[in-house]
Amino acid sequence: MAIRTIRKFGDDILRKKCRTVDKIDDRIITLLDDMKDTLYDSDGVGLAAPQVGILKRIAVVDIGDGPIELINPEIIASCGTQNGNEGCLSVPGKYGKVERPMTVTVRAMNRDGEIFEITGEELLARAFCHEIDHLDGKLFVDKVTEYVEVDD
Ligand code: NI
Repeated sequence: MAIRTIRKFGDDILRKKCRTVDKIDDRIITLLDDMKDTLYDSDGVGLAAPQVGILKRIAVVDIGDGPIELINPEIIASCGTQNGNEGCLSVPGKYGKVERPMTVTVRAMNRDGEIFEITGEELLARAFCHEIDHLDGKLFVDKVTEYVEVDD
């Protein structure tokens, strides 16, 4: 387990589209473990693989209820809208209002290669959308309607 360096806004890797994971090997397991360490070290709620320089469709999310590991995640259903503040470990110090669905259902694979579905509301839905956007090279700053001041 190790803390990896988080790539920051301006790094081209954050704008690339990530590749599907077709085999879960020891490197993927180590990456998942390192991403969790990195997330907890940074006090974030989510981290996507390109943020640590790896162009694979992997993200981890933890809104305080324990880690959720997502391999090849896809949003398969969404409903409603919410408008709230969002930030990103790759864009330190910036927060802004972003519209997201209120509820999303994600289908993904876990580290054992099993497909599962999970539905999240409010912050969890926001985190799923934000992290899955990262896998397609999209950042929250692309969607901000208004920047806000937040004391860190
Ligand atoms: Ni982010």
